[in-house]
Amino acid sequence: MLINMTDQDVQDIIDQIKTVRTVNELQELKSKYLGKQGALTVAMKKIREVSPDKRKDLGRKLNLYKQRIEEAVEDQRNALIEEERERREAAHRYDVTMPGARREVGALHIISQVQEEVQEIFLGMGFELAVGPEMETSYYNFEALNTPEWHPSRDMHDTFYLSNGKLLRTHTSTVQIRVMEKRKPPLAIFSPGRCYRKDTPDATHLPMFYQVEVLHVDKNVSVAHLKGTLEILAKRLFGQDREIRLRPSYFPFTEPSFEVFVSCGICHSTGCRSCGGTGWLEILGAGMVHPNVFRSVGYDPDEWSGFALGMGLERVIMLKYDLEDIRELMRNDRRFIKEFRGVVL
Ligand code: DAH
Repeated sequence: MLINMTDQDVQDIIDQIKTVRTVNELQELKSKYLGKQGALTVAMKKIREVSPDKRKDLGRKLNLYKQRIEEAVEDQRNALIEEERERREAAHRYDVTMPGARREVGALHIISQVQEEVQEIFLGMGFELAVGPEMETSYYNFEALNTPEWHPSRDMHDTFYLSNGKLLRTHTSTVQIRVMEKRKPPLAIFSPGRCYRKDTPDATHLPMFYQVEVLHVDKNVSVAHLKGTLEILAKRLFGQDREIRLRPSYFPFTEPSFEVFVSCGICHSTGCRSCGGTGWLEILGAGMVHPNVFRSVGYDPDEWSGFALGMGLERVIMLKYDLEDIRELMRNDRRFIKEFRGVVL
């Protein structure tokens, strides 16, 4: 197939070009026919050998073939490029009507929110923030708080004992001692933090939980000061329409001691299902600092007096938001956590 090339030959070449799948193969075919040593190039060179009267027609014919083959190569190249583009696009196809990947705004956990709320209340009343370690000695957790080894109230404060002889504190009352050891009265502090007890989790217990401790020591501090502080706390936390009630109780480190209740927000203390028919909800323990506690830190109990209180944050949250199971606070179900996004802060 050289100088006597026919229409059919050209058609075969074009058909061959159309079957090519890659640009490289196409390039090979192109040089096979149109390159320097290509069949058509060689044929065109041979025109000279043909008799002059046939040269013109032959030349025109071969030029036409060359053109058709060139066009076929270009068409195929464009087709391959287009195919490749489509393949890539399909691989990265996206639906512009889909909602975008939203970056959600984070929020503090409800425990942190309420902790800060309580913090604002006490800062506002002039109390200072104090912190103490979660890993404690038995002395700060018990003995200095008038709770000797034999004391039955220790039963309720079983905890995790560490191999270094320390324990995980069962309440934030430890911070009372740590602050008083370092400072002289008058003082007014609050101390939020984690506490631990050897409790099996159920609807109202967690082995790790949060408390806020409050301590005020000065001359002539009385139950009236405690009550006034509690009233502000309860109204700020739960609402201005809420009342408080004190009921005698027992803690080794206070005398007298109280259980503090807030009036039920649903029935306004007439009694309903939410408050178990009593009209009142227990929110914390409190009392006047026991003389023995003052003695253990070297304060003279005849000179100084003080009140203290300890409040469980989870308990406050349960009452504030009608939460039935305390474990929800630790389950990390985002649907639950998101319910509280920014409710306080
Ligand atoms: N520490 C007590 C507890 O965890 C709570 C408590 C009661 C703290 C009376 C106090 C207080 O400061 O005065 O059960």
